[in-house]
Amino acid sequence: SIEQSLRPENLKQYIGQEKAKQNLSIFIEAAKLRNEPLDHVLLYGPPGLGKTTMASIIANEMGVQFRTTSGPAIERAGDLAAILSSLEAGDVLFIDEIHRLPRSVEEILYPAMEDFCLDIVIGTGPSARSVRLDLPPFTLVGATTRAGLLTAPLRDRFGVLSRLEFYNTKDLCSIVERTSEIFHVSIYKDAATEIARRSRGTPRIANRLLKRVRDISQVKGETEITVETTRMALEMLQVDPAGLDHIDHKLLLGIMDGFSGGPVGLDTIAATIGEESQTIEDVYEPYLLQMGFIQRTPRGRLVTRKAYEHFNREVPEA
Ligand code: ADE
Repeated sequence: SIEQSLRPENLKQYIGQEKAKQNLSIFIEAAKLRNEPLDHVLLYGPPGLGKTTMASIIANEMGVQFRTTSGPAIERAGDLAAILSSLEAGDVLFIDEIHRLPRSVEEILYPAMEDFCLDIVIGTGPSARSVRLDLPPFTLVGATTRAGLLTAPLRDRFGVLSRLEFYNTKDLCSIVERTSEIFHVSIYKDAATEIARRSRGTPRIANRLLKRVRDISQVKGETEITVETTRMALEMLQVDPAGLDHIDHKLLLGIMDGFSGGPVGLDTIAATIGEESQTIEDVYEPYLLQMGFIQRTPRGRLVTRKAYEHFNREVPEA
């Protein structure tokens, strides 16, 4: 599908995340030289930065099968046992949202990761006994929004911890240009840069905005996407010049108007604006923190001077 073709297939095609790419390429090369599977890898960072893409690239670069599942999809120990026992030597098993694995399932994973074996209890009561099954050696690639969400024993079993960062405007611009080529649409450089600047450092958002800008440009009968059309489209989509959307606005203005700029606790903000605390923390806050629009303090979230200036509002007295 076109969605799939947007994903780069190897490290060379992957734009940005230089640190993660540099480290992974060495570990992959070394594992291949030794004819061993790659050590287990934990990818962490905000949503939309390419964790799933990176996991599938690891499988491609290692020349093995890519198997994927997610924490919430695995409800019982038997579900995971079934997946693990169907793996072939060297396979990459990707578990998205790995912090959401039930505890009983997580315990199956420890010996599987450490010794490539499966401890299964057969029967119940006094006649219950445990059997140990060997598994083919494999690579677990786990993804989560924050490494701190994992239990310590699970986190400790990953040999490679790789944090994905927000992308800079230049890299996002290259991604927008690459995606445009895949869509067979032309885009002016300044238009691609405008989308890049307003994508909260996130390729998934850049590609989504590009699709909507393309719609509007096409309906206007343009042969090449212009910066004027881009700005108009982004305004229609309620994406402001800093890339903040409707919910970011609700969040920041909610703290300004309801709590004099804070500090205010996360759960209080969540209740006020009607979003889940976890969603605010994982999806909205990381970018607002990085941009310096909010600060985290021991007493809660604080809106900064920069945020007041962004909305052309007077900064309240301390
Ligand atoms: N499409 C989405 N993310 C990408 C990336 N990091 N590099 C290249 N193309 C992408």
